[in-house]
Amino acid sequence: MPAELSPMDKAKFASARRAVDFIEDGMRVGLGTGSTAAWMVRCLGERVREEGLNIIGVPTSTRTAELAREVGIKVVSLEEAKWLDLTIDGADEFDPELNLIKGGGAALLQEKIVATASDRMIVISDASKEVAHLGAFPLPVEVTPFGWPVTRTLIEEVLSSMDVLGRETTVRMDGDTPLITDEGNHIIDCHLNKIGNPRQLALALNQIAGVVESGLFIDICDMVIIGDTEGRVEVR
Ligand code: 5RP
Repeated sequence: MPAELSPMDKAKFASARRAVDFIEDGMRVGLGTGSTAAWMVRCLGERVREEGLNIIGVPTSTRTAELAREVGIKVVSLEEAKWLDLTIDGADEFDPELNLIKGGGAALLQEKIVATASDRMIVISDASKEVAHLGAFPLPVEVTPFGWPVTRTLIEEVLSSMDVLGRETTVRMDGDTPLITDEGNHIIDCHLNKIGNPRQLALALNQIAGVVESGLFIDICDMVIIGDTEGRVEVR
């Protein structure tokens, strides 16, 4: 473990380091986005350099692609890799069924495409992301720039008929303008506090024409590795 880590980084590092043990020589691996996933990429880079592992990495954002190259991981596109053995990524929340909210780092679309093109998805996390019910973290929804205010209104209409505790939406900004994702879209954050039926909400949001994807990952994650501030891990 690197010296002088904050307690939170210790937890993130511990989960990331354990997840990298699941990577075997010759695997095609989806590389997630965010601070926890960045630890995983660094740990994998170390194994590639020290053990000479032959790994193909498919990054889920331009940030992750840059880091992966920097640490010596061979990076290809999903088109080239075609299918992946394993994806390892962080999450903003996970519930007892291992359903997730993702997209805090605005990379949810590539993250979901990569995770669902993988035999397995492992989520790496510190204990703060574990919840009984999803929804305290604002749910990101990626929308097309074309007509996005109309899409936002339609999202709010859908929310009004759903089992959620809050219904406010905000547009994710980058300075004075709506943030633009790696796929050229915007993000609407939905402040729901508690989501009664995440599966139903995910399906309803995906019915709206301007919605590209939501940050609800239902039945996608196979395992969560939770790190603690002492550097211990628990596997779920
Ligand atoms: C990015 C994500 C991240 O995985 C999520 O936001 C967790 O990030 P971090 O590990 O920095 O807490 O979904 O879109």
